[in-house]
Amino acid sequence: MIIQSSIQAVMDAARVEDVVGDYVNLTRRGVNLTGLCPFHDEKTPSFVVSPSKNYYKCFGCGRGGDPIRFIMEHEHISYPEAIRFLAQKYNIELKETENTEEEKEKKLITDSLYIVNEFAKEYFKDKLFNDEEGRSIGLSYFKERGLRNATIEKFQLGYALNDRDSFTKTALLKKYNIDHLHKLGLTNQSDYDFFRQRVMFSIHNLSGKIVGFAGRILNNQLKTAKYINSPESDIYNKSEILYGLYFAKEAIRKQNECILVEGYLDVISLHQSGIENVVATSGTSLTQKQLQLIKRFTPNIKILYDGDAAGIKAALRGLDMVLEADMNVKLVLLPDGHDPDSFLANQGSDKFTEFITNNEEDFIFFKTRILIDETANDPIKKSIAIRDIVDSISKIPDTFKRSLYIRQCSTILELDEQILITETNKTIRSKSKNKRLEKQEEVPELPVNEDEWLKPKLIQRSDEPNIVQNDAWIERAVCSILINFADKIYDESNRTTIAGFVVAETTELLDFFDIDLYREIILLTKEAIDSGIIPDSKWYISHTDEKIAGFAVNAVSSPYIYASWEKKQMYLQTQKMPNENYIRDVDNAIQRLILKKSTKYIGQLEEYFTSVTEDDKQSEEYTLNIKVYQELIKRRNELAVNLGTVTLL
Ligand code: UTP
Ligand code: MN
Repeated sequence: MIIQSSIQAVMDAARVEDVVGDYVNLTRRGVNLTGLCPFHDEKTPSFVVSPSKNYYKCFGCGRGGDPIRFIMEHEHISYPEAIRFLAQKYNIELKETENTEEEKEKKLITDSLYIVNEFAKEYFKDKLFNDEEGRSIGLSYFKERGLRNATIEKFQLGYALNDRDSFTKTALLKKYNIDHLHKLGLTNQSDYDFFRQRVMFSIHNLSGKIVGFAGRILNNQLKTAKYINSPESDIYNKSEILYGLYFAKEAIRKQNECILVEGYLDVISLHQSGIENVVATSGTSLTQKQLQLIKRFTPNIKILYDGDAAGIKAALRGLDMVLEADMNVKLVLLPDGHDPDSFLANQGSDKFTEFITNNEEDFIFFKTRILIDETANDPIKKSIAIRDIVDSISKIPDTFKRSLYIRQCSTILELDEQILITETNKTIRSKSKNKRLEKQEEVPELPVNEDEWLKPKLIQRSDEPNIVQNDAWIERAVCSILINFADKIYDESNRTTIAGFVVAETTELLDFFDIDLYREIILLTKEAIDSGIIPDSKWYISHTDEKIAGFAVNAVSSPYIYASWEKKQMYLQTQKMPNENYIRDVDNAIQRLILKKSTKYIGQLEEYFTSVTEDDKQSEEYTLNIKVYQELIKRRNELAVNLGTVTLL
């Protein structure tokens, strides 16, 4: 592990304008810099870099963070990898702690597993090119299927001999550990080779290391599965691997689209013909983790399926998951009996590309069309189908996109648009009711340029269910002010900071917080202060917890976010830059928080009072609660008068 002071040295050195500037052409705009967002496709800049606070934020796609997060997102690497990356850029020497024995052991094992797989790949490759059986059976098979040598080498294909244990014997002779061979499934429990008389496909992880293999049988007479795969192991988690992603990732990012197919050979032959943004799920259905993997490179997926009934069923299954992930899914059904590889061989790559461009169909329309065809004139079936479609549409997070789909689907269904709108909204409402309390920060739409913050402008947040229904809005306001002004002085006389003040005022109320994230932010602040750190905005923005860093970026890039509770424009029109008002703001927010939470506490106590028995009334607890109650009522009345919210009484 990299030691904390080294991480700190990197964080101190890494200037956001400098790090982002390596990838994005930035121009000055007021105190900030702007440019075209590298994470989504746009023509006018909504990507802002703040040198003074050392963060970036895109108001288009919502991504934001400190320089380290930028590198993580842009290079698709982990936190420690990003630290190493930046250390290299700034010539900082990193110091590392010794790993614990257990960590060392684990690392040693996974390292060895990769080494064994590497050996196996070389072995299978050697047999394919240099062994007589390999050449005459394996290599000629690949040639028959149209693969060129360069392609075979690039995808690290190979051949496993028709022999009981020649691989295992060679591996043992070379002093590879039998336990490792078992763990990887290359050797079975009787110490025979697992893969025999098959052409071999290496399966890579995102960084190009081999995690496992697939072997395809050639002899059609044999009654075993066409493909067999390595079992899962410490280095191979099937739900997290997409075949071909290592070779496809650059093309996926460049073309901003990922083509999804079913088979190994589909990936390889498309790749060979110049269509490189292709991955395969290798026979299993798409998982949430695989989707997230794709989403790191693009939100657009195009699925190519066989045009037969099974292909269609497979296409419909599980695709709502893609909608929920806010990704766009297109489907292309290939002519009956063809898979991408055979269709490509049959048509050539130009015609193939033309076909998949002309025949792509949006998932929702596809589903609507298929379902409605099935219902014929049966009204009951039709209403079930509509339910199903509404359910899919309601999973699309983007309002605008949703309304476009509704319009088109209503045409396909020959149904009044208003009915679909009403049904969809109903579904969304009943879902969001359950989610409301868990709902975390959303990306607000706000002016890009800080100068514009000076203009009186009403910030409209599209829908704020959580803000109306519980105390989330006030908890958020307090946290937002805290993050913006944490290290500013609240009270000159005793040098209390805003952070110190907020922590002192809220600690006792934390049990009454509705939103875990906000409670956690305050707890972390308290811990930091207790350990001698003076948190400032940068401290929050650089937090390793993604949720906290994300909230912090939103808070500092949109200081008005907390102003929405102040009867909206009334407050904003008279206000200067928020940083000139932070003492007034924090007082105001804290008072409102206390008012809210004491009202809650009062409610609980009143409930308690109605439930006590005569005996209880003799207890110390009761007497104490009475005192607390009176005190709370008094404080609440004072606060309410102060804040002018007499109506609450
Ligand atoms: P297909 O049977 O469609 O094979 O299975 P394919 O990809 O077209 O293979 P070729 O062209 O005959 O060589 C599609 C995918 O399903 C998985 C494999 O990933 C295969 O590529 N599969 C299929 C298995 O894992 N095991 C099997 O027994 C069959
Ligand atoms: Mn095929």
